[in-house]
Amino acid sequence: MESRLDQEAIRILKANDRGGFTIPTARLYPYQWNWDSAFAALGFAEFDRDRAWREIETLFEAQWPDGMLPHIVFRQNDPDYFPGPAIWQSNTEPPSSGHSQPPVTASVVLRMVQGGDASDLERARPLFAKMLAFHRWYHEMRDPDGTGLVGIVHPWESGRDNCPDWDIGMDRIAVPDDLGPYQRRDTEHIDPAERPSTAQYDRYLTIIKFGRECGWDHVEMARNGPFFMGDPGVQFILMRADRDLLRLAELLGETAAQEQIGRWLERASAGCQLLWNPEVNAFCARDLRTGEFSDGITSASMLAFYAGAGTDEQRAAMAVHAARILDQVAFGFPSFDPAHPRFEAKRYWRGPVWAIINFLIVDGLNEAGETQLAERIRDDTRRLVETAGFFEYFDPQSGEGIGGSDFTWTAAVHLVWGSGSTNSRAA
Ligand code: GLC
Repeated sequence: MESRLDQEAIRILKANDRGGFTIPTARLYPYQWNWDSAFAALGFAEFDRDRAWREIETLFEAQWPDGMLPHIVFRQNDPDYFPGPAIWQSNTEPPSSGHSQPPVTASVVLRMVQGGDASDLERARPLFAKMLAFHRWYHEMRDPDGTGLVGIVHPWESGRDNCPDWDIGMDRIAVPDDLGPYQRRDTEHIDPAERPSTAQYDRYLTIIKFGRECGWDHVEMARNGPFFMGDPGVQFILMRADRDLLRLAELLGETAAQEQIGRWLERASAGCQLLWNPEVNAFCARDLRTGEFSDGITSASMLAFYAGAGTDEQRAAMAVHAARILDQVAFGFPSFDPAHPRFEAKRYWRGPVWAIINFLIVDGLNEAGETQLAERIRDDTRRLVETAGFFEYFDPQSGEGIGGSDFTWTAAVHLVWGSGSTNSRAA
């Protein structure tokens, strides 16, 4: 039996469906976003498997010839969103943005295969080569020197846009005089105090200008672009996605790819050590131009469990941090350490709780046997949705829902988890 919240979540997914692809929420984000679509697929899979597969298939329609899966697919021009296709100038069909986002797709596809039957495995088959190309793109273009640590060329590539993780890299960006005037649209929809600042936006656009002017040459971006940072989020998500892609290769009998994926995994397990900040005793973001570490722990640091990354001692240290951070908030997991002076409870990725990150953290903690921490975070997520609704993000102290409402990925996480004791689906 479906609970009222389940029905509401299903209604949101259907309302945000634009015919084969889903928008994150109306007005604020009117296009198809990369990792949002992957989570949307998981939500659809709970009640409409064909529609779930369509979401992944339409996303891969926008894959670049070099393998990149862009972060936004512009299927129509929508004046509600800035920066749109005219700013990015991707020269692709459909038009898209010029960088990627956290590669959760292979993990989502494996989940759909494991939760389905033989027809789901067949639906995954034509996607395999595309996912392999996407992973190869990340390993080669975002790690041109083969260190085992991928970098991101824009904070938006992390999916955690204005997180304090990027402050050191963003501070080094010189905004050119000819950036030109521009009109943001996000602050017309949402209180500016809950969105990135103007100084940050100038720098976001400076990176896009560089990308546009070099024709989105990915190696050039990685070597000489205005921004190149190691992100625990993308690194750990890619490690887990490689592991899940390897499993898919086994299930699909794709033997040729297995050795390659195994090499990526091995290299990344070593490479992620470059993110271990001994001063903080945790995995932290790092500026790959200067070697400087960010000194804060984020929700993405906690994805070490999800990747199975690090030594036993390192994971034990991360579990201690997790418990300490959870003790400081009413609802976990905050996107930034509340003990850090840069924490802001309501500003986007500088403090608020995001349901999708919780979903990934909980998956990892459960796998690592940290079930109490996992249960606590899952329970906090459920309480947030029950009291505030399906918002984009939440204040970790007051529990208030902020950003966009009727949000696709928050609804999807709810459906995948079920609504707990009130819902038979959870059993
Ligand atoms: C914001 C988020 C990003 C997400 C997008 C659409 O830019 O930071 O992670 O993909 O909105 O929801």
